[in-house]
Amino acid sequence: YHVDWDISAAEKGGHDYFMLKEIAEQPQAVADTLLGRLTPRGQLRLDEMRLSDDELREIDKIIIIACGSAFYAGLTAKYAIEHWTRIPCEVELSSEFRYRDPILNRSTLVIAISQSGETMDTLMALRHAREQRARVLAICNTNGSTIPRESDAVLYTHAGPEVGVAATKTFLTQVVACYLIGLYLAQVRESKFGDEVAAEVDQLDRMPQAVEQALGTMEQIRSLARELATAKSVLFIGRHVGYPVALEGALKLKELAYMHAEAFAAGELKHGPIALIEEDLPVVVVVPPRGRDVLHDKIVSNVQEIRARGARTIVLAEEGDESVTPYADVLISLPKVPTLLQPLVATVPLQIFACELAMARGNDVDQPRNLAKSVTVE
Ligand code: G6P
Repeated sequence: YHVDWDISAAEKGGHDYFMLKEIAEQPQAVADTLLGRLTPRGQLRLDEMRLSDDELREIDKIIIIACGSAFYAGLTAKYAIEHWTRIPCEVELSSEFRYRDPILNRSTLVIAISQSGETMDTLMALRHAREQRARVLAICNTNGSTIPRESDAVLYTHAGPEVGVAATKTFLTQVVACYLIGLYLAQVRESKFGDEVAAEVDQLDRMPQAVEQALGTMEQIRSLARELATAKSVLFIGRHVGYPVALEGALKLKELAYMHAEAFAAGELKHGPIALIEEDLPVVVVVPPRGRDVLHDKIVSNVQEIRARGARTIVLAEEGDESVTPYADVLISLPKVPTLLQPLVATVPLQIFACELAMARGNDVDQPRNLAKSVTVE
């Protein structure tokens, strides 16, 4: 009897790469981040916050610091946190924050997002914040690592170990963790969005299934990636929370496929990027859900403009959204979810896209050239 599995294949759960395994684990990872933190009454319990309700009510500014994909998780969170809590929220790269003179005090909440908990720039940025008496809350995936140890409190993402260098399940769970914090602050502060908060908590609870559904795009993306393996460059556009999704999609492509990839906020197209559009250039567009969202129609007209200039449009849109069909060379259907939660489903096909394109180009997706899983030097 012959077993043609080796130990490394077993560790990868039958996948060729850890990255593919980790992409597939995302529904479970999201469920694990939520576990024990949602009560059946649509409320949140975040004992780890370690701040009293009075202290939470005193927070008048939030600053998120992070690097790489964690920074894009933070950018996504800004839209949700400001909407739910009405607390001003800034997001800054740790490497920039640590060398400037930010305005912070005891009522500033600094959220340091780091999968590894060891990223040097984020660690230095958090020390810089603590020197000015700001309270620091870490969002981290690695128990007992340096960043949580030096923070006032920590919310673990519980995504399980991530071996692939490019962040996948830890990115999604960082977004979920930020959303939990935003909703918790809104709950404690009894924001005027109280009803909406309960509804969002309920929707968040359904995200593992929605992420599972998003994984269903795998085969479609795989064949698309094979077709695009020789493309020189790929552009990504989105707006609102779709903008950080576009940024994350472009970063993944650079990291794994070593291709030029750039993301733009769709509203900026006419201020320069549209000059780059040429025949056959692949352009990935993240379309927000329909409904009351005015941005939906604006993006659809962007898709139209891009297509009219000969680009190849790859459009991610909510299932059943037919408004984009005439202008989409490839249409990727996303599960129906509220706008603020769309990044959790829209990122998944973009991770698969980068991973499959990289494999089609013969790259090792778990260990891309020149990159490290955790960057402990400046
Ligand atoms: C490295 C990794 C990225 C990650 C970034 C931040 O560059 O390759 O995938 O997003 O570090 O890492 P952290 O551990 O702080 O989240």
